[in-house]
Amino acid sequence: MAGKTDMNKDISKVLVSEEQLRARVAEMGAQLSEDYDGKNVILVCILKGAVHFFSDLSRHMTCHMEMDFMSISSYGNGRKTSGIVRIAKDMDADITGRHVLIVEDIMDSGLTLNYLTKILLERKPASLKIACLLDKPSRRECDITPDYCGFVIPNEFVLGYGLDYDGYYRNLPYVGVYKTEE
Ligand code: IMP
Ligand code: MG
Repeated sequence: MAGKTDMNKDISKVLVSEEQLRARVAEMGAQLSEDYDGKNVILVCILKGAVHFFSDLSRHMTCHMEMDFMSISSYGNGRKTSGIVRIAKDMDADITGRHVLIVEDIMDSGLTLNYLTKILLERKPASLKIACLLDKPSRRECDITPDYCGFVIPNEFVLGYGLDYDGYYRNLPYVGVYKTEE
């Protein structure tokens, strides 16, 4: 039964359904299992947006891995990123000489991941790749593309499956478009 504050009411349309998420994340997991076989990869979850994607993706990977977590915040106002990233929580592992896969919710302007990869490359990993659930290439402001991408989406502000608006909606089980004022 829908409550008074049912989040679903704030969504104008479902962009990626639960079924589509399940199928695609399983596919990505299978691909990553092959690509990282025998490499003892460190999977790095970028908190908080990647939480569901990371959890589901890692459970579709059959190779050995370690998990780590980073929390980053980028300065900017509202929905716009400045590209200046502050590490609020760094990962625990020393990634020197290790294979590292960054797991992120969405690539929008690309500024956040561009900055983050620069920081992590200074630590001299054996390899550094990016898996993003969603990609909005039309918004790109720098030369970066995810190595693994779940869905390419149009330029719309989306919520759910980890993605938030002002901290809310991360627990929606699908990816939907936010209903703006009617
Ligand atoms: P970028 O630096 O512009 O690529 O922005 C990356 C970050 O902005 C993501 O990690 C998200 O936190 C946030 N973001 C970008 N687009 C959306 C969206 O459509 N919904 C929710 N968050 C978004
Ligand atoms: Mg995020």
